[in-house]
Formats: sequence, structure tokens, C-alpha cells
Amino acid sequence: MDQQGVLQRIRELVGEAGLVTDAPARQARLVDERRLYHGQAALIVRPDSVDQIASILALCNEHHIGVVPQGGNTGYCGGATPFDAERQIVVCLDRLNRIREIDPVAFTMTVEAGLVLAKAQAAAAEHNLLFPLSMGSEGSCQIGGNLSTNAGGLAVLRYGTARELALGLEVVLPDGRVLSELKGLRKDNTGYPLTQLFMGAEGTLGIITAAVLKLFPAAHAIETAWLAVADIEAACRLLGVARQASGDALSSFEYVSGASAELVLDQVADTRAPLQETYAHYVLVEFTSPDSASGLRAGMERLLEVGMEHGWVLDGVLAESGPQRDALWRLRESIPEAEKHSGGAIKHDVSVAVGRIPEFAARLAAELKVLGDYRPSGYGHIGDGNLHYNLLAPEGTDPEAFKQGAGRQLSRAVHALAVSMGGSFSAEHGVGILKAPDLVAYKSPVALEMMKTVKRALDPHGIMNPGKMVPGS
Ligand code: FAD
Ligand code: MLT
Ligand code: ZN
Repeated sequence: MDQQGVLQRIRELVGEAGLVTDAPARQARLVDERRLYHGQAALIVRPDSVDQIASILALCNEHHIGVVPQGGNTGYCGGATPFDAERQIVVCLDRLNRIREIDPVAFTMTVEAGLVLAKAQAAAAEHNLLFPLSMGSEGSCQIGGNLSTNAGGLAVLRYGTARELALGLEVVLPDGRVLSELKGLRKDNTGYPLTQLFMGAEGTLGIITAAVLKLFPAAHAIETAWLAVADIEAACRLLGVARQASGDALSSFEYVSGASAELVLDQVADTRAPLQETYAHYVLVEFTSPDSASGLRAGMERLLEVGMEHGWVLDGVLAESGPQRDALWRLRESIPEAEKHSGGAIKHDVSVAVGRIPEFAARLAAELKVLGDYRPSGYGHIGDGNLHYNLLAPEGTDPEAFKQGAGRQLSRAVHALAVSMGGSFSAEHGVGILKAPDLVAYKSPVALEMMKTVKRALDPHGIMNPGKMVPGS
């Protein structure tokens, strides 16, 4: 069969309903969330069964056609964008969106990969259960995308990243075979933990079609505080106190710089400052518990007391209602939108050991100051040692010129410093195409060689997400 024949066979497999042909819908799939990449593909398909995906991959494997899996297309590194108008197809997962089972005894949920994260959360909530993965993109990103990027988000310090929330996977391998590990066992020491390979693989080893996810009791007590803190060091010291004072009920500990908060207040409608004064540093702290009489308010008050005694906390407000809580979270979650409205930022997603965050922030500010002008927007999951130290063009200058020019050197310095301090240049957003050069620069030769070996073993023809993550793929 020639290439046109293979594409025609795939069209027939998915049928009319499984083809994306109209121009605006194709365009939405060919451009990434940040509009950094404008891709091309021979075909964009939306299969609706595991069998269809298996047949598509078997055909592509046999005829050496590249396959780019796509979930909600909210990823930050161009991982879901295809780059070949003739030899790559996009496989969208959105029609594989069923909830196969919710097991309230085992506290698990078996769902298909195309299920939108917010829908998974809502389905768990209907059973008085919690699926704790949470992030600003949850209305669009999909479970398969979350697992493939090993996404982090807003509650990692309590519940872990996406990888830690999965008990099993179903994966279509590049040659069309299906690895089905959906038993949902919490204990199973029978060989290599194969499913782990696919989480964080960004679609380079196969297509995740379903997962067994861990659930937890729903939260019935929630205490949320927005605190102004003296500096980043004070924020880090407060983190340990928060864990102790809450009886380890701390579920989020997010840092927001004064600059990022101002950006939101300037750029995003219906946001307002929670405190009368403005400060240079804030943290958003949340305690949650399934037990409505768990005394979380007293714990939060103890946190404030200790924080103020030491001069770490300068000011603060506790949410007194659901809408107040939502307003505080809106300030934090709207930062990416505010950056977009300001012409876009060079984004960073670095991590270092939590205790080294203050040193990292101080050294970074000093290094960047020498290298050039920029406007900082710093925020992130400080409880995980994960900072988004983003750079906007200096006031009155062209954002695109900054991103393509002077900003690049600054950006390299951010990654270099994080790595030199034993950290990561990509804590939660993955590698994709954007950070593939960093992987080559910073990953150890042994680790890179092992990655290539795994890739060759599972995908000898290199059909899965070519050019993404794995060097030379
Ligand atoms: P896509 O963007 O479609 O794909 C991402 C990668 O996974 C690609 O390489 C793709 O090929 C692969 N892939 C997708 N589905 C599958 C599958 N079923 N099988 C195999 N490979 C697959 N990320 C965080 O970690 N933390 C955050 O707090 C966070 N906040 C965000 C806030 C906003 C406003 C936005 C826009 C993004 C945010 N992100 C965050 C980034 C992004 O939402 C996550 O990376 C998310 O997990 C991507 O899911 P997706 O379904 O959109 O995947
Ligand atoms: C976040 O923490 O808000 C996300 O990772 C998204 C972003 O930084 O833009
Ligand atoms: Zn983040």
C-alpha cells in the first residue's frame, strides 16, 4: 500500500465522524496553546475506540508514518503539535472519554484517556470522593495528557503528580498491541513497572487509552488564606509551620510575587486585591480535610500567629465563604492569562530543593540584572520547590522582539542556574519540542542513552511523536 492508500485506510477506519476536515477545527489542532508552533499534518483523526487506535498504529508502524497523540492541546512545550504535512498524522483522544467504573470501596476510578480533567473531578465528587489533580487548564486538558506529561498543578505537595495518582494504564503500543494493566492493584511486585514508562513520556512510546486513578475522601473542611510575607525565605519557613499546624492537612502552598499579583489586577476582569496594602510577596495557603470538625481554622490561626511572631507574615486574609475562596484562587490561577494579555512571557518551570528556593531566587535576580532588562512575573508551587519565574518584555518594548532576541539569553541563564543548583529545567510542563535542546544539554549521557534505548526497544521505527523529547527521534 502506498502512503495515500494508508491514509485512505485510516479515514475508512475512523469513518466520517472521526475526521477533522474543516479549516478552523484543523487549525485549532495544528497550533499549540502558547501559539509558539504552527504545525502541519497529513491527517487529523478522532478515533472512538481502543481497537481503532490499535489498527491505526499498526498501519502507521508498518508504513513508517509518524503519529502525534493529542489530548486537550493545552501543553506548554509543543508536544502535541505535528510537523510534517505528508508523513505525520494527529490522533485526538477526545472521543475516548468514558468513565468505565467508579469503585467507592477501592477508592478508584477507571476512565478513558480523553476524559477532560474537570469531568473526572466532577464524577468523583458525585460519589463524595476527590480526584485531587488540579490546574488552571482543567476545563480542557485530558487525563491522557495529564499522565503523558506527568502534570503537577496545585495540590502536588499533598497528593503527588499525575504519575502518583495512577494505579494502572491501558496503552496502545506503536505496533498496535495493547498493554492492559487496569487491575487497579495497590500492590503488585511482578516485574518491571512497565506502565510507569508511559507517564511523562509525552506520547513518544505509545498512546494511553485508559487509566485507573486513585481517589480520596472529598474535602468537607477547607481553610484558605492569602498571606503577605516578608520575602521568599519567610514563605519557605512558613511552609514547614503550615504542615505542622494543620496536622499535615496542607494541600496547597502557592507563591505569588507582588509583580504577578499586580499583573492580574491590571489585566484580568473581576479581580480585586484581597488586602488594603500592596506587598512584594504573597502565599496562598490551603488546608483541607474530609472531617468537617477537624479544627482547620484553629490550625490556620496558629499559622498566622507563629508567622507574625517571627515577622514572616506581614498581613493576611482568611476566606470566609466559597466565593471568597474562589476569588483568592482566581488571583493565583489567572496569572498565565494576565501574562498573555501583557504580550506573553518567556515561561520557566524550574525546580530546586525547597530549602534552596530563597538562594535560587536571590542568585537569579542578581544574574539576570547584569544580563539585561525584563519585567519579572514570579509565582509557582513553592511547596514543591517549583517556581515559574517568567520574563516579560520591558515596559514599552515589543514583546515578540524580546522573546526572540534579548530574552533568550536570560532564559538560558534561568535554566542553567536551576540545573547548577541540583534542580530541573522542567519541573512539571515536560520537554516536548520546546525544551528538547535543554534535555540534550542537561541530562546526563547515561540517562540520555537509556532513554534512547527504551525508545528504540518500544518504537523501533520511531513513529511515536517524532522529534519530541528523545534526541534524534
Ligand atoms: P496535550 O497538550 O494535548 O499533550 C501533551 C503531551 O502529551 C503531548 O506530547 C501529547 O502528544 C501527549 N499526549 C496527550 N494525550 C496523550 C495520550 N492519551 N497518550 C499518549 N500521549 C498523549 N501543567 C502542569 O503540570 N501544572 C499546572 O499547574 C498547569 N497549569 C496550566 C494552566 C494553564 C492555563 C494552561 C494553559 C496549561 C497548564 N499546564 C499545567 C500545562 C498543561 O495543561 C498540562 O501539561 C496538561 O497535562 C496537558 O494535558 P493535555 O490533555 O492538554 O495534553
Ligand atoms: C501554573 O502554575 O499556573 C501553570 O503551570 C501554568 C503557567 O505557569 O502558565
Ligand atoms: Zn505550574
